[in-house]
Amino acid sequence: MKFFLDTADIAEIREAAALGVLDGVTTNPSLVAKTGRGFLEVLAEICELVSGPVSAEVVATDLEGILREGRFLAKVASNIVVKIPLITDGLKATRVFRDEGIKTNVTLCFSPLQALLAAKAGATYISPFIGRLDDISHQGMALVEEIRAIYDNYAELETQILVASIRHPLHVRDAALAGADVATVPFPVFDKIIKHPLTDIGLAKFLKDFEKVPGGLGIS
Ligand code: G3P
Repeated sequence: MKFFLDTADIAEIREAAALGVLDGVTTNPSLVAKTGRGFLEVLAEICELVSGPVSAEVVATDLEGILREGRFLAKVASNIVVKIPLITDGLKATRVFRDEGIKTNVTLCFSPLQALLAAKAGATYISPFIGRLDDISHQGMALVEEIRAIYDNYAELETQILVASIRHPLHVRDAALAGADVATVPFPVFDKIIKHPLTDIGLAKFLKDFEKVPGGLGIS
């Protein structure tokens, strides 16, 4: 499973990239607004830092507007993936972009049939929003499992499942178990995945015990 970082914060991206396990970045209008910076400025900086796919979302909701904005965003850098809401004109635009060779991430997916339509339209990625379903007492991860089963039934569907709206480490584990292609993870969750109290306790004991070894490692 690929790991994307769900953020527009440059410091977070730098830190995650330094770990060597970062495969890409997803942004959305809310995440960009949180930075207080201009969209294009932030986007260009992210694309310089990350060689993998970087999702940048359109804000138009009509076909003409989505096409105009998507083509514009796609020119910012070669690794841009145009993020499009799962609405009627969004699906139409997805097909046009597929034919033009522009990669797409169809977002705000809340049902398996929406995901099937996005795949048929030629989306590169589909983004089911897990946490937001959990928030309203639906099983978010069941959606991922259903999409996986449907996509696996039809070899011609090449869309990758990008699990979004991840809130905690269990979402990441369950996305991997369900066979998701990508999990886009907020930085605090990324950090939690690395850490385990038994790792820290075990390390402290090893270091303490090693103090008794005469001459230490032997490095002068
Ligand atoms: O990028 C989309 C997404 O992951 C949203 O997450 O926490 O706002 O539901 P959240």
